[in-house]
Amino acid sequence: NSFLCMSLMFSFSQLVDLTSSVVELSGVTHRVSQLIEKLNELQVEWDLQELQVSSSFSNLTKKRYGSRKFPTSEEERREILHENGNGEISLALRDEQPINIAFIFNNVTITPPESDRILVKELTLEITRQNHLLVMGPSSSGKSSLLRVIRGLWTSKEGSVGHNLPPGPKAVIFLPQKPIMTNGSLYEQIIYPLRLDKNNPPSEETLQEILKTIDELLLHGLVERCGGLLNDPHWRDDILSPGEMQRICFLRLFYHKPQYAFLDESTSGLSLEVEEYLYSVCLKYGITL
Ligand SMILES: Nc1ncnc2c1ncn2[C@@H]1O[C@H](COP(=O)(O)OP(=O)(O)O)[C@@H](O)[C@H]1O
Ligand SMILES: [Mg+2]
Repeated sequence: NSFLCMSLMFSFSQLVDLTSSVVELSGVTHRVSQLIEKLNELQVEWDLQELQVSSSFSNLTKKRYGSRKFPTSEEERREILHENGNGEISLALRDEQPINIAFIFNNVTITPPESDRILVKELTLEITRQNHLLVMGPSSSGKSSLLRVIRGLWTSKEGSVGHNLPPGPKAVIFLPQKPIMTNGSLYEQIIYPLRLDKNNPPSEETLQEILKTIDELLLHGLVERCGGLLNDPHWRDDILSPGEMQRICFLRLFYHKPQYAFLDESTSGLSLEVEEYLYSVCLKYGITL
């Protein structure tokens, strides 16, 4: 009997212990569900914004270039629509150069959110294919803010911004000032923002190509230090130097080969020769910087 009593008491104390875990679990579940709800809300907001942006793009280009008459005969149509190897389609009349506009700014004034300090005033600009653009200015003058507006993180105070690119890393990649690292293997760092598909592992050919680029960027030791391309080294802060993080970001760029890349002081930790080399590879892949 006393044994039964002891066991009952033990079970009871276990039950009391469990309540705190259950309360914790319900708290965590509640927070996760709130996070999911918020993410869904943001997705809807984002989709709406995208819709507005693409309609403003066609309005802006029409304003700038006038609305062109739609060609009637098949022959005329072929002359007007040009398609390059990347599946991009551009518009041009008979003797004109085709226009490939990715971003268009019309009288854009930029201030930080909840501030009236004007960083960029009435800027009208087009970012077009193969026309590289360098933005210079002193620190805190608003260079990164311009990129935040292009990326859609900030809205412009006045004027309109439009873009005409499909989503995804094949169209445009932003390399921010402070590299963003992800979890997982070195391979997953490189394919970011894509995710590793466990059912569809990378081919030997892809891995060899990545290893070759890693060698070219003088990152030989890195693969060994990470225990291979596909091993998760559980990235700690000291595993990568700032220069190595920046070069990993360029590995991403060379993996995805986007049409456009926005580099925000993303070579600040690298030597001039490496910087020059990185830009030459971007040009080789036809990336507009
Ligand atoms: N989220 C923010 N809210 C308010 N002010 C900001 C915010 N982010 C940046 N700023 C301010 O905007 C100015 C321009 O910043 P930034 O565009 O990053 O300059 P830089 O030309 O060095 O890239 C700075 O004075 C900065 O303090
Ligand atoms: Mg900056």
